[in-house]
This record gives sequence, C-alpha cells and structure tokens, in this order.
Amino acid sequence: GMPTLTIKVVLLGESAVGKSSIVLRFVSNDFAQSKEPTIGAAFLTKRIYRNDEAIKFEIWDTAGQERFAPLAPMYYRNAQAALVVFDITNEQSFHKAQNWVEQLHERVGNHIIIALVGNKTDLLGMQNLNMGVKKEMIEDFCQRENLSYFETSAKTGENIHEVFQAIGEKTPHP
Ligand code: GTP
Ligand code: MG
Repeated sequence: GMPTLTIKVVLLGESAVGKSSIVLRFVSNDFAQSKEPTIGAAFLTKRIYRNDEAIKFEIWDTAGQERFAPLAPMYYRNAQAALVVFDITNEQSFHKAQNWVEQLHERVGNHIIIALVGNKTDLLGMQNLNMGVKKEMIEDFCQRENLSYFETSAKTGENIHEVFQAIGEKTPHP
C-alpha cells in the first residue's frame, strides 16, 4: 500500500485559545461555539494524503488550565512537532505561548518542529485592526526563536489544514 509517515504532534497553549477547536476543525471539519475545557489531554488521529504518500498525525491535545501544566512534559517529550497556540486578541496568551516555546527548547532541544499559531483571526474585523497582539512583537519572537507562524481561525477553518501540511513538509522523511 501507500507508504505512511506517522508524526506525533502536541498542542500547547493557554486555556481557551482554541487548541481543541483547531483539532476538531482539522480532524472532523467541525466547530463548537461552546466547547468544554479539556481535562488532562485528548488523543486524536488524522490521515492526510499527498502525492503518493499518506501522513498519519497522532495528536495530543493538552489541557491549558494551569493545574494541568505539570502533565505537559509527558505529552511533548516524544513529540516530533508542536503547535504552540495563542489567541491573537489576547496578549497574555501570547506571553504564555512564548513560555511554552522556551520550555520546549530547554527540555526537548532544537530538533522539535514548532509552529506558532495565532488563532481566532475571525475576531479581528476591519474596524479594529489595531486590536490584538502587535504584529512586530510576534515577528520579532519568531525570528529570534526561528519559528514558522500561522494565523488561523478554527471557526472559519482559515489556515487550519495549512498548519498541519507545513508540519508534514518539515518533518524529515525516512
Ligand atoms: P483548554 O482545553 O482549556 O486548554 O482550551 P482550548 O485551548 O482547547 O480552547 P477551546 O478549543 O476549548 O476553545 C475555547 C473557546 O474559544 C470555545 O468557546 C471555542 O468555541 C472558542 N474558539 C476556538 N477557536 C475559535 C476561533 O477561531 N474563533 C472564535 N471566534 N472562537 C474560537
Ligand atoms: Mg482543549
């Protein structure tokens, strides 16, 4: 059959930034307006097909609430890729994302593929372009840490597939 590449991905980020919603959109092409906070972590898988290859994503969707933070190393330790998610309308969540990136670099090293994800783009209408996390702050951080950056909306589906696609492309193929 078709060769399959398996990629373990972990999602990290503050509670309510939309990690589970990103996974729900990617795996089931669905969205829930009122989603319960994740307890512990959730495991989901999704296959995508490109050219003559299948990629199976094994996804650990972690819980962002502070009381679950000690569990995170269990999930990122064996991950090949991480989506570090923040809410582009919430500066605090961006600082939390910066902490996650630093923790990954300290504890996992530089071989883990990290995509920084600014979610909820649908909340930034034309009227309030000045709202939200400052673009330069994000760009500076990404340059310093050598990260790729995506802006997504789990609500509309914008860029969700592209994030995972990019991880598939960056992962070394055996
Ligand atoms: P924890 O599991 O507690 O870590 O939270 P989470 O990061 O998994 O957030 P979750 O996916 O549960 O989403 C939190 C809330 O934000 C829910 O009410 C979602 O409907 C909403 N939400 C998620 N993504 C988006 C988005 O792209 N746009 C909008 N407008 N709302 C979103
Ligand atoms: Mg969740």
